[in-house]
Amino acid sequence: DGWLRYASLPCSHQCQSKLPASIMLLNVTETSPVYAAGSEIQDGLKRIYGAHAQISQIQCKTSSSTVVVGTVEQYRKTCGSSSEIPELEEDGFWLSTEGPKIRILGSTESGALYGAFEYLSMLAQGNLSEVSYATNPSAPIRWVNQWDNMDGTIERGYGGPSIFFNNGAIVDDLTRVKQYARLLASIRINAVVVNNVNANATLLTPENLKGLGRIADVFRPYGIKVGISLNFASPETLGGLDTFDPLDPSVISWWSNITEQVYQHVPDMAGYLVKADSEGQPGPQTYNRTLSDGANLFARAVHPYGGIVMFRAFVYNQLNESNWTEDRANAAVNFFKDLDGEFDDNVVVQIKYGPIDFQVREPASPLFANLLNTSTAMELEVTQEYLGQQSHLVYLPPLWKTVLDFDLRVDGKPSLVRDVYTGKRFKRKLGGSAAVVNVGTNTTWLGSHLSMSNLYAYGRLAWNPTDDSQTMLQDWIRLTFGLDRTVLNTITKMSMESWPAYEGYSGNLGIQTLTDILYTHYGPNPASQDNNGWGQWTRADHIGIGMDRTVSNGTGFSGQYPDEVAAMYESIDTTPDDLLLWFHHVNYTHRLHSGKTVIQHFYDAHYTGAATAQTFFTQWESLKGKIDDERYNHVLRLLDYQSGHSIIWRDAINNFYYNLSGIPDTANRVNHH
Ligand code: GCU
Repeated sequence: DGWLRYASLPCSHQCQSKLPASIMLLNVTETSPVYAAGSEIQDGLKRIYGAHAQISQIQCKTSSSTVVVGTVEQYRKTCGSSSEIPELEEDGFWLSTEGPKIRILGSTESGALYGAFEYLSMLAQGNLSEVSYATNPSAPIRWVNQWDNMDGTIERGYGGPSIFFNNGAIVDDLTRVKQYARLLASIRINAVVVNNVNANATLLTPENLKGLGRIADVFRPYGIKVGISLNFASPETLGGLDTFDPLDPSVISWWSNITEQVYQHVPDMAGYLVKADSEGQPGPQTYNRTLSDGANLFARAVHPYGGIVMFRAFVYNQLNESNWTEDRANAAVNFFKDLDGEFDDNVVVQIKYGPIDFQVREPASPLFANLLNTSTAMELEVTQEYLGQQSHLVYLPPLWKTVLDFDLRVDGKPSLVRDVYTGKRFKRKLGGSAAVVNVGTNTTWLGSHLSMSNLYAYGRLAWNPTDDSQTMLQDWIRLTFGLDRTVLNTITKMSMESWPAYEGYSGNLGIQTLTDILYTHYGPNPASQDNNGWGQWTRADHIGIGMDRTVSNGTGFSGQYPDEVAAMYESIDTTPDDLLLWFHHVNYTHRLHSGKTVIQHFYDAHYTGAATAQTFFTQWESLKGKIDDERYNHVLRLLDYQSGHSIIWRDAINNFYYNLSGIPDTANRVNHH
């Protein structure tokens, strides 16, 4: 159940008097989100407070305690106009618990369901206070991406096999899908792309489209639409054509036919997600067509049905490291900048938070400052691919916020990244967020109980990117582990310390996660970063380290930002220490603003980070008896592992740079091994 446990809480007489005796639904159709809202409230009241509320016919004038759920429009039709209800935007809701009549009214039925989950979240946190407020989403796109393969494996998935696919087909039993739908609806996610961006065309066979229809039927009552990833070469590989040229009429009509079939099975299909011309995936460049030609092909196919195309900006080529000015970080802007304005209105360019690939720290992708006439979405990664793969506790929102809150200063004006992708800064109607989630059949969903805070907070941020990291975390802790203060304080402390600790023992000063980048993306392997074509380089030798991304002497990447930001990163003096090695190649003896040398910072940060990670285990041990044994032991085992693995990280990285630089650790730890 994740954070939807509805664990039992004590309820005094006064508390009982505040609980509704009935639930009045403004739509009782079983497949409607309003109906789902009613069942959730009924179930939640019973499980949290042992209270029985009947679902009943709407009575507008009732004076007995009740909760009314539906859309504003349904409410007005049934009960007449009500001036108290504020104007709502699409999917927004108004929650008023100023009883006896509690009202949960959405601008849409999904909004009503979100309001119901909000009310339940209050109840489950023991909060029975009287509130009355409206809330609206920051953006219309609040999606998750699953990287599930048709054979049931999941790319970069650490929570077991797929809940959707097995053996090339859709699984028969979709019980887990329904559970996932509840979780996603409770954090106001409105679409899920069910298959891997490295897509297999066989999802489009008639049999599998039928299965997709079943998946969509399960998500629909929760206000969640289904989307799919496409393989660009499908007309050839699946359709038997001799081309997949996006401008070829036979290809255009093939996609339009397939799209019609998709919508026959899934009439409200959200749209397509496309990874093209990247990491071996086929794309329009095979035919010398532009990426916008590729995106618009699908945009036109889904347009009649109201669908959209999420087109990924993660496009780059293999590079030659012996050329000092080659830089993978430059790729997205190089590929997309000149296409600004060329995309159809229902295309959204989906951009990873940083220019490389979900690293422990990256500067904001400069593409957000280069697409002024194109809708964009932020791509985050809940699955901890480079960040410990759920075997390490790493609470991600503080990392995400370094990008979401970054001011790109386009045209010398405030241009927070979050205002760009939500459409506010450049006045785009579409926009929003997508996160790679990769839950699996593991009972913990992600493989670790504590990792679920990242999924929970992702949804909250997609709704409102200004939500505070610690506030979201603490809501999640109370919902997941109950109201005990020690539990709350301990998990808060561990989680808030976890990303800085991971950065401490993995990769510092913007050098990226020094993991094995060739295969596993797991464990320390600083040597793997260089001497390959992937372009996640550190350029470390025995004198210095870092990528020179300046315009004056390097790859020119810093020049992809608007002037003020470009000037800040161009100069070593104004580049923040935590991104120094991202932008500059310096000697190990270079002094940081902190006064330390780069190499000593490496040594110290690795010791401090690993030491902090070791406290997680002991902090968690203090919670024995306050959390059920099953979850307590599961988490304890992982934290025990993290304690040891953080030492392996520490020593592997420190020894590597000691051997490379020959510069001793002033505290005599590293060189004495
Ligand atoms: C990373 C990841 C791949 C994934 C790719 C993507 O490189 O390791 O597994 O396919 O990102 O986002 O497309």
